[in-house]
Amino acid sequence: MKKFDDELHEMVLSEDGSYTAYSKEYDEHYHSTKDGAFRESLLKHVKPAFKIKETLAEISILDICFGLGFNTLATIYYHKKNALASKLNIFSPELDASLVKSLSKFNYPKEFDEFKHIITKLSDNGFYSDENLHVEVFLGDAREYILKFNKETFDIVYQDAFSPSANPALWTKEYFEDIRNIIKKDAILTTYSIALPTRLALYENGFNVYVNQGDGFRDATVASLSELKEFIHVDMKHKISCNPHVKSLRD
Ligand SMILES: C[S@@+](CC[C@H](N)C(=O)[O-])C[C@H]1O[C@@H](n2cnc3c(N)ncnc32)[C@H](O)[C@@H]1O
Repeated sequence: MKKFDDELHEMVLSEDGSYTAYSKEYDEHYHSTKDGAFRESLLKHVKPAFKIKETLAEISILDICFGLGFNTLATIYYHKKNALASKLNIFSPELDASLVKSLSKFNYPKEFDEFKHIITKLSDNGFYSDENLHVEVFLGDAREYILKFNKETFDIVYQDAFSPSANPALWTKEYFEDIRNIIKKDAILTTYSIALPTRLALYENGFNVYVNQGDGFRDATVASLSELKEFIHVDMKHKISCNPHVKSLRD
């Protein structure tokens, strides 16, 4: 395998045996090294989202942001493994064009072996399409990208930017307002962030906030404009009353 590391990215082994990367620019890993790159994608994003959405005939997903493509690939893996019949449409912005161009050199987990042709196509052309799957990677700013979609486009949003302190523009109240404007009323948003300001930015936009809890990973968040019975509800009124000075991030 050719060398993936360059002056901005370094491949790092995470605790589930899959590799992630470290960004020297953001001084952060692309995934939790403790939960593991593959497990994090599957358990904090794909499984909770598909728990609610897997019976749909067509599923449209906004993957914020593409990075190493784990969330997109873990979705394709889960869909195939469970022989789901739905058509998948995945749209994913990514600012770092050089990262996307270098993905054929990345050491992906064996679960993604059969999707190597998809990784190559996305890395080379930013586009892959077959009978049941349509994936687009947009090289540019997610904030601009999300403005081009119509109301009620998405069933699922994977909110997986770098942390709010390193990547604040993708965690503000105004950002989540733009997200709200392009999702369906019963869409589900998943994120690893359990920070109160993140949950508040969602709550201020009318989202109900829930905990995604399970074995083998640290708590994460799911949110929806509709009520979800499948997850533990977070009482945001109570949280705010206990933390009266909490503020959501703003543009
Ligand atoms: C935590 S990583 C995403 C990991 C990815 N979901 C995966 O599974 O590999 C965050 C990504 O957001 C990208 N990013 C940060 N700000 C962005 C922006 N404004 N627009 C698009 N991408 C952005 C970074 O370049 C980085 O690749």
